Amino acid sequence: MSETNVDPRNSVLVKAARGEEVPYTPVWFMRQAGRSLPEYRKVREGVGMLESCRRPDLVTEITMQPVRRHHVDAAIFFSDIVVPLAAVGVDLDIVAGVGPVVAQPIRTRADLDRLPELTPDAVPDITESVKLLTAELGGTPLIGFAGAPFTLASYLVEGGPSKNHENTKALMYGDPELWNDLCARLAQISGAFLRVQAEAGASAVQLFDSWVGNLPLADYLRFVQPHSRQALAAVEGLDVPKIHFGVGTGELLSAMGEAGADVVGVDFRVDLDAARERTGGQYALQGNLDPALLFAPWEPLEAKVDEIVAAGRRAKGHIFNLGHGVLPSTDPDVITRVVARVHEISAR
Ligand code: CP3
Repeated sequence: MSETNVDPRNSVLVKAARGEEVPYTPVWFMRQAGRSLPEYRKVREGVGMLESCRRPDLVTEITMQPVRRHHVDAAIFFSDIVVPLAAVGVDLDIVAGVGPVVAQPIRTRADLDRLPELTPDAVPDITESVKLLTAELGGTPLIGFAGAPFTLASYLVEGGPSKNHENTKALMYGDPELWNDLCARLAQISGAFLRVQAEAGASAVQLFDSWVGNLPLADYLRFVQPHSRQALAAVEGLDVPKIHFGVGTGELLSAMGEAGADVVGVDFRVDLDAARERTGGQYALQGNLDPALLFAPWEPLEAKVDEIVAAGRRAKGHIFNLGHGVLPSTDPDVITRVVARVHEISAR
């Protein structure tokens, strides 16, 4: 809902993230900006994905599109997790229908030596985009984001998307020192990217560790958590709530919270009540409607939405979202209807 004359750092979404009382359950969707929207496909015509992420005019327009159309309670900064990697000089491209593809994978110490730290002067356009956006958004908060060290490492080590992450795990176990140095560098890059957005005016941040659900808890604790903690710590002191999300992370929810999150993102495989129990009720939760259910008939979909809102009210705080991103062929009108339903049923 549009919140006028409100400081976005005191908006419904930010309050829910902090576990404070809210007048209704706030809602946004991962990948709410993107191919499900005809107006997105139109402005992206003939413009490459990475280029569109570096043009403040396009970033602003694309980020605003779902806010205007769906009346969601937050905007998510239009960018990609590999943008900061490209900004420090990694030769990569985002291939439509595939994802990020890296020209020279990182597998040796010499490869790592070619990966510099991220300084804010490498991304002045990000600061500019955030400033344009916060001016246009008024009381609606902007969520900044970055990829977490593990997920970024997996793209860099594999050279592209991977199902089994075999090269990543081989490096982790084969040369733990190099793995840790790589992830420490990525935590710096990721943290700096979050900090640039928060300093420019983003009201919350989300750290995406999309593929970390491929690890057992023991490996997560040993090889990943310290680095994610480092990335999240980069915005400490800026008074922005930190959301931490991954796919298939049912076994890792507590550990991800302990990495320094205020809000734990839950995918659609874990019941929200179970997620609350697993995390000891310590965190606000975000989630977790299965994006595929947006293709189901309205009645059962609505019942599922209501069920998630009810479970969310038992949590310390709840931000309604999907359990992963909007699928490109989703009917945008269904998304608008879900937003309205969440607001209606959660009003208190
Ligand atoms: O609305 C939003 O959520 C903001 C935009 C956003 C994008 N990427 C835009 C994008 C966000 C938050 C991301 C993060 C991202 N990128 C993640 C983490 C979130 C997740 O989905 O788990 C990951 C793993 C990536 C890497 C990546 N980039 C993938 C897997 C893909 C999809 C490839 C494809 O074409 O299906 C991309 C490309 C991408 N990022 C698109 C968008 C809108 C599609 C490219 C296009 O529209 O041309």
